[in-house]
Amino acid sequence: MAQDRIAERFRSKIISAEQAAELIKDGMVVGASGFTKAGDAKATLKALAEKAKKNPLKINLMTGASLGHNLDGLLAEAGAIARRMPFQSDATLRKKINTGEVMFTDPHLGETAELLAYGFLPAVDIAVIEVAAIYDDGSVLPTTSIGNNLTYARHAKEIILEVNTTIPLEIRGFHDIFATGISPQRSIIPVTEASTRIGTETMPIDPLKVVGVVLSDIKDSPVDLSAVDDKTQAISNHLMEFFNYEVKKGRLTANLPPLQTGIGNIANAVFSGFQKGPFENLKMYSEVLQDSTFDLIDTGKMAFASACSFAVTEACYERFFNNLDHYRGKILLRPEKISNSPEVIRRLGVIAINTAIEFDLYGNVNSTHIGGNKMMNGIGGSGDFARNSYLSIFVTQSASKNNSISHVVPMVTHVDSNEHDVDILVTDQGLADLRGLAPRERALRVIENCCHPEYRDQLKSYYKDAVARGGHTPHIIERAFSWHQNFNERGTMKF
Ligand code: COA
Repeated sequence: MAQDRIAERFRSKIISAEQAAELIKDGMVVGASGFTKAGDAKATLKALAEKAKKNPLKINLMTGASLGHNLDGLLAEAGAIARRMPFQSDATLRKKINTGEVMFTDPHLGETAELLAYGFLPAVDIAVIEVAAIYDDGSVLPTTSIGNNLTYARHAKEIILEVNTTIPLEIRGFHDIFATGISPQRSIIPVTEASTRIGTETMPIDPLKVVGVVLSDIKDSPVDLSAVDDKTQAISNHLMEFFNYEVKKGRLTANLPPLQTGIGNIANAVFSGFQKGPFENLKMYSEVLQDSTFDLIDTGKMAFASACSFAVTEACYERFFNNLDHYRGKILLRPEKISNSPEVIRRLGVIAINTAIEFDLYGNVNSTHIGGNKMMNGIGGSGDFARNSYLSIFVTQSASKNNSISHVVPMVTHVDSNEHDVDILVTDQGLADLRGLAPRERALRVIENCCHPEYRDQLKSYYKDAVARGGHTPHIIERAFSWHQNFNERGTMKF
């Protein structure tokens, strides 16, 4: 019975998704659950998109990260989003962001809740949060992501809880909810190992703020992942070789420090390389768990994974829920303020592996913009991890689209992680270890080790001419973006 999940005192608040949508008014700031397509308030936001089609309204929407079920797209299509933050990955919303119709703000995910708590952002009017159960004391059982739910519930004037009846109640025990407070009274986050539990299994909310309880039986929308191919396999091989070397040198322990990986096809494929590697008893202290994490746990390679959400295929989603006892004690989901905390990332000495759209001669990384002006998804947590990690690694293919695009360029058209935050760059061609190198040394290593052979002479020629001009970080400003210009005009970066 759905109602078994809802403590008696809340049952009188049960309303339909359409009624819940009526509680969300034009101009409101909405703090919604949902992170990389997991744990979003699917029924209520879908009903809101439907309502907006008939009765136009615009909201300012904050979430944990991207929403599933095309919800960002449906809301954008209905013209219902005035402002959006942080992170999205929807084609329709992306278009509206890039025409300037939607104002998109792209903070570090680990910082979003703090911006709100400090009062730097407009206050949240209403929080809409997916849960698996509501208990008598007002605490709730989270589902497949935590995101910023704790902060939104705390700061919102009103709360709508969406109870997802497809989530087994046995998910209890997979969450670790901890509030830090804000500076200057902020508490220490006492995570000393990836597996340290510091908080509670359920999330507290103020029962008096609950204005509606919606029932939903919609599962998370699955993530599509492409299979490992020659390029991602090559990137993975270069990384494994590097880790082996670092262990031999005594700079890494044999079971490696906790790992973080980014999102997307490249990250998932690269991470699956650990399956064949020699490393055992691996741990993750990451933001998102992809299929590769569950594969590593199943083969006994990984002992523990801490994150903020799942971003998995349908098969992996079913595998998790059908084998909860197998995964119990091996996985914890935490608020993104904790999963992406600079304090914890630095303390644990996390190895961060994130994906670049492009990087340049000196190690500056663009993770967000195509062609310097068009937003792709957002910085996500890559900056939280890159800045604070023990080793900050960025991976990308050397060239793509029939080699018309080089992902190694003279100067990135947008900087997300700058040269000061980047230690290692990897493409299918090889790995450039930039630690301790000056810009002129970095450039040579990037050209030799990472650039696609079809672009190597072109990059060498740029660098040679730049050096002739001099400078600590040699560049020819008027030619720095000529590759991108060439792509815009002729459809290829090749001259
Ligand atoms: N020029 C033009 N298009 C480019 C490009 C470039 N230099 N680099 C990537 N793209 C396009 C690809 O062609 C592809 O588009 P398509 O689907 O139309 O073919 C799209 O961007 C995604 O690239 P893909 O190669 O499939 O990589 P991915 O799925 O691994 O995603 C990022 C790569 C960088 C977009 C993704 O990892 C991301 O959003 N990162 C930022 C957030 C982050 O790092 N979070 C991690 C913390 S958990």
